[in-house]
Order: sequence, then C-alpha cells, then structure tokens
Amino acid sequence: MEFDEIILQVKGMKKYFPIEKGLLRRQVGQVKAVDDVSFEIKRGEALGLVGESGCGKTTLGRCVLRAIDPTEGEIILRTSDGAMVDITALDKPELRQLRKEMQMVFQDPFSSLSPRMTVLDIIGEPLWAQGIRGKEMEDMVRELADLVGLNIGHLNRYPNAFSGGQRQRIGIARALATRPGLIVADEPVSALDVSIQAQILNLLQDLQEKLSLTYLFIAHDLSVVEHIADRVAVMYVGKIIELADTEELYLNPKHPYTEALLSAVPKPDPRLEERQIILSGEVANPADPPSGCLFHPRCQYAQDRCRQEAPALEEVRPGHYAACHFSKELELTGVAI
Ligand SMILES: Nc1ncnc2c1ncn2[C@@H]1O[C@H](COP(=O)(O)OP(=O)(O)OP(=O)(O)O)[C@@H](O)[C@H]1O
Ligand code: SF4
Ligand SMILES: [Mg+2]
Repeated sequence: MEFDEIILQVKGMKKYFPIEKGLLRRQVGQVKAVDDVSFEIKRGEALGLVGESGCGKTTLGRCVLRAIDPTEGEIILRTSDGAMVDITALDKPELRQLRKEMQMVFQDPFSSLSPRMTVLDIIGEPLWAQGIRGKEMEDMVRELADLVGLNIGHLNRYPNAFSGGQRQRIGIARALATRPGLIVADEPVSALDVSIQAQILNLLQDLQEKLSLTYLFIAHDLSVVEHIADRVAVMYVGKIIELADTEELYLNPKHPYTEALLSAVPKPDPRLEERQIILSGEVANPADPPSGCLFHPRCQYAQDRCRQEAPALEEVRPGHYAACHFSKELELTGVAI
C-alpha cells in the first residue's frame, strides 16, 4: 500500500537518563537510552520497532507520546485538523488537549490501574477526563467494547475476572476511547499465550483498517511484527540500525544484527532452524557503550575499522537504511515471508 501524508516526524531525538550517586545525588554518568533517532510514520501505516530488551524501545515510545520529556530533538505530529505541531514545545494544557490524538497500548494494561475499577470505569476514564459523563459515556463505552469483541454484559466486572486476552481487549478499548489517530503499542502481545497473540494481532489489524489508525508497534521479536508492520525499524542500544519495508528487510537484511534476529524467527521448514545465529554476549551497556560500532563485540563480521569508527545510518537501497560499514559488501541471509 502507498501512504502519502506524514503523521509523525521524529528528528534527532535523544533521551539520556542521568546516573546519580550518593546523598547529594551527584551525576556520575548517563544512560543513553535513545541516542539520535530520526524516522517518520505516514498516516495509516504501521511501523514496527524491534530490538532486544533494554535497547530503548519503550523510552522511544514514551517520548513520542511525551509521557516523558526527550533530552533533545523534535517530535512533530500532524493533528486531526491538519496542523503540524512540535509536541516537545507544548506546555501542559496544550499537551492535555493533544493527548486524545495519540494513545498507548501497554504490555500489561492494568499495572497502573486500581483493581477496584470496573471495566466500564477503565474504558470510560479517558472520556471522563474529557468531561463526558453519564449515559453518553456508557453508550460510548458499550460501542468501544463491542468494537474490540468484549461481551458488553460484563462491563460491571473487575479486570481480574478476565483472561489475559480479554484484558488486552479492555486496554485497547481504553486506548481507542478518544478516537486517536496514532497508537503506540508497546509489546501488546508479549505477555499472552501464543494462541491468543494471533487473535489480538488480528484485532489490531482489523481496527487499523476500520478506524484508519497509524501504529508504532513495538516488539522484541521480528516474528511478531511480520504481518502487521508495513516497515520495520531495528534498534540496538538506543539507535536505529536498520529501517526498510517489511518484506525487503526480511528478505534482504543489510545489518548483521538484523540477520541474527531474523535467524531466530521460526521457519516453516525445521531444517532451516540449524542456521540460527547465536548472539554471544549481552546487549551493550548504554551507560558504558563500546567504541566504534556498538554491535562490534557481538558481530561475526567485525573488522578493525568497526572498533574505531561508528557507522552512520545510510540509504543502501531506495528506502532501505542500514548503519554498517560493510552493508554493501556482506551477503547476509534473510527469510522468506
Ligand atoms: N527512568 C529511567 N531511569 C534510568 N534508566 C532508564 C529509565 N528507563 C529506562 N532506562 C534505561 O534505558 C535503557 C532502555 O530502556 P527501555 O525500557 O526503553 O528498553 P526496551 O527496549 O523497552 O526494553 P524491554 O524490551 O525490556 O522493554 C535501559 O538501559 C534502561 O535500563
Ligand atoms: S560496522 Fe562492523 S561490527 Fe558493526 S555491524 Fe557492520 S560489520 Fe558488524
Ligand atoms: Mg520496553
């Protein structure tokens, strides 16, 4: 599918967390959780954001919604009335006004909610916050529950009466309550059984079509975003190291880290499993990153240059970006999808 209009543009975004020590909380270092990331999402598109634990996906997603303030960079959102707004420059009341345009779906939607809230309260809360009350609110909640496939007879129950999949449906209904255009879904199926994962992914795909939603879809595993994402960005230690159309990225990876992640995607032919590349060592520590290419301590193709010089993200084929000194020469193995 072709997408025209940019809905979100992120330019040079950084989020550094200070590391403090002692009673005086002296700053002794910083965690570069997101380090100079730029990308855009078109209206109606689903951008997958993938990488191992700790590489900065949640931090990036939270900065995009300005749940936390980025250290640096611009985050430009096209609002429903067509204006381009840099959300890093908004004050609190302006931000509150804009909140309804973008929402987050969480891995565990209830970790921050009271167990004494009914499903009606949970889904209705964002409406309540906008001054919608009483019967109008209840009618809207019923409509939302129906939209996500929840039994509307169960709205007065408490979330602990529901299965994981049902709870995620409640979380999705809540996120949709204000009719947002942009949804940041942060590992929405990671906590679910595999059989339920497919149901929730299908639901998210149906909703995207029905409501013309745009997704930033976060996962740590490439197999999860395969069907839902139009393009995929791969993150490693705070940086995007590869970005391309989904099919292109899977068939023709141009970064050794993506190749390793792809080798772990389950294959239809079990004989192909033997080719799995075992990534040795841990993800680099963002508080004490290695020199040169951040991936070099784990890269089977690393050469001297990689230890000294950091590769920039460059367009290696039209619309296909990779940050590796040797992406043009290496013959990396992808997977057919
Ligand atoms: N509030 C914070 N203060 C200090 N460091 C933080 C904070 N939040 C995140 N970090 C650090 O920033 C880095 C990125 O964390 P983040 O949660 O964004 O990663 P992630 O890719 O979402 O990982 P996961 O797959 O485990 O959810 C990690 O090193 C983490 O420890
Ligand atoms: S720049 Fe070097 S270390 Fe980094 S991914 Fe490419 S080959 Fe590996
Ligand atoms: Mg996370």
